[in-house]
Amino acid sequence: MTVGVVVVGSVNLDLVVVTPRLPRPGETVLGGDFRTVPGGKGANQAVAAARAGAACAFVGAVGSDDFGRLLRDNLVAAGVDVRGLRTANCPSGVALITVDAAGENCIVVSPGANATLTGLEAADRAAIGAADVLLLQLEVPLPVVAEAAGCARDAGATVVLNAAPAAPLPGHLLDLVDMLVVNEHEAAVVAGLPAGAGTAALVDALLTLVPTVVLTLGARGAAYGDRSGLRLRVPAPAIDAVDTTAAGDAFTGALAVAWAEHGTAPSEDALRWAFCPRSCR
Ligand code: RIB
Repeated sequence: MTVGVVVVGSVNLDLVVVTPRLPRPGETVLGGDFRTVPGGKGANQAVAAARAGAACAFVGAVGSDDFGRLLRDNLVAAGVDVRGLRTANCPSGVALITVDAAGENCIVVSPGANATLTGLEAADRAAIGAADVLLLQLEVPLPVVAEAAGCARDAGATVVLNAAPAAPLPGHLLDLVDMLVVNEHEAAVVAGLPAGAGTAALVDALLTLVPTVVLTLGARGAAYGDRSGLRLRVPAPAIDAVDTTAAGDAFTGALAVAWAEHGTAPSEDALRWAFCPRSCR
């Protein structure tokens, strides 16, 4: 069965430099060669879902610049349906990314064209209505995220929200979310808990807001909880991290496909599969 996924989200060109360590405020550090990489949480998740075997469509906006053309071509090359990708008369979104020797990063995003995605068109609504899963993040304006979630709910599609970058979320959006995927920082912000709250406390607090939670824990794997009382903990594959940028996006895109393929809720197998879908075997 081919799963249908629609992603409504961001697309950026990532401007990347690797440095021995991340700079402190006011500090200059010398890094290696500059690289450009297609990115944006929405586009990364769309590519991951397509590589994981889904029929994936992307709704977003690039700018009317060379970056925009490169970003569109990258999505097409990945097999993503870009009929919902607008070209706005402004610069494309970019992300300034510094990666340290341990693979950790810090990222500054200039939304550019992503900020022009303020509403859906009839064709976007039709695509969402025909999909199994709608996949959302928080790098495009919140009203379009909520509109897309409402459209999916009306059509019976599953709504997966990756609440990144972290932000407190309005109740009218949370009420439309079937599965929330967050890292520990994002979980604390959404739940209104202090940094350092434990995994169980974060999952329990989030389950008062949404029915299903996947908490990503970096090298420690992922935790799952739902309102039936099921709690799972899945380890991440042991790897030497070179660059953790978009690791959560790759996981989330694959998880959306695994969840749709496995029916109502992800089994432990589905979570393991999301760490290592067929595209990385
Ligand atoms: O999650 C990683 C992504 O965040 C990068 O590709 C960057 O564009 C930012 O959106």
